Amino acid sequence: MYPLRRNRRLRTNESIRTLVRETIITPSDFLVPLFVVEGKGVKEEIPSMPNYFRLSLDNLEKEVQQLWSMGLGAVLLFVKVPDNLKDNKGTEALNPDGLMQRAIKTIKNACPDMLVMTDVALDPYSSYGHDGIVKDGQIINDETAEVLAEMSISHAFAGADFVAPSDMMDGRILTIREALEEEGLVNTGIMSYSAKYASAFYGPFRDALDSAPGFGDKKTYQMDPANRFEAIKETEMDIDEGADIIMVKPGLCYLDIVREIKNAVDVPVAVYQVSGEYAMVKAAAEKGWLDHDAVMMEQLLAIKRAGANIIASYFAKDAVKLMG
Ligand code: PBG
Repeated sequence: MYPLRRNRRLRTNESIRTLVRETIITPSDFLVPLFVVEGKGVKEEIPSMPNYFRLSLDNLEKEVQQLWSMGLGAVLLFVKVPDNLKDNKGTEALNPDGLMQRAIKTIKNACPDMLVMTDVALDPYSSYGHDGIVKDGQIINDETAEVLAEMSISHAFAGADFVAPSDMMDGRILTIREALEEEGLVNTGIMSYSAKYASAFYGPFRDALDSAPGFGDKKTYQMDPANRFEAIKETEMDIDEGADIIMVKPGLCYLDIVREIKNAVDVPVAVYQVSGEYAMVKAAAEKGWLDHDAVMMEQLLAIKRAGANIIASYFAKDAVKLMG
């Protein structure tokens, strides 16, 4: 008697394991989120995101050059807006000389081939900390979509390659696509946060940008974590409306959704491993309870195996350093 198949043969040593490995992480898988602040010489560590920083434009320039030299060729920009510039309509978001617009130009000057994607949402600019305009305690959809389209145009004129609406308003991809086309910005792409869940994992990010909702929660626009079919519907609609890349967010708890979407659509799928996922690994590693590097790589690999073509992750630099 012997086993008919000895699967362990393919696991005998690292050489054979490498030869048959199905999934490999490379630097070009990553999209690096960056947090930008006003000021000079600023590099503030975000307390709930150890070893991750808010950067002023001078440091942003250095960071981007370093990323480029490591083979990391795509960034996703977020800005922290001072309180006195926040209002209900996100007026500051449209300022041609606003922080986001200057950040885009800074990067394109320093590193012209770096792919620049920008977050398009009102929350960092909103006095209410919501992703939309507030009226009578409600987040209103269509007026918000119009502002997001103006924001997208502004980012594109500043030099953004892709705009990334992260708000979950209905119809905003079409509104944005039409607005870009009307301005002749035919080459500006859209990466839609198409299946974005109302998740508790965004906490550290909201600390980073001081963007937590001032009242209520985001459940009237972000998706219910219980839902699966809805994710497919949202994603297919965004593709029909003109999204070039779609996204599932958060990552690890939603890998079933990632695989299902990957099997259903024919555009690149991005996955956002969010701030809370990063914070959990850092915290457990700090306590000595988990092996930081091993857990990090295992999680990134799982995200890619599930079907991610693009991984937005705060671990991008750590992971690439580890790859050597
Ligand atoms: C807001 C936005 C959020 C994130 C990206 N864009 C937070 C939110 O929806 O409240 C979260 C990213 C992270 O947690 O890393 N439009």
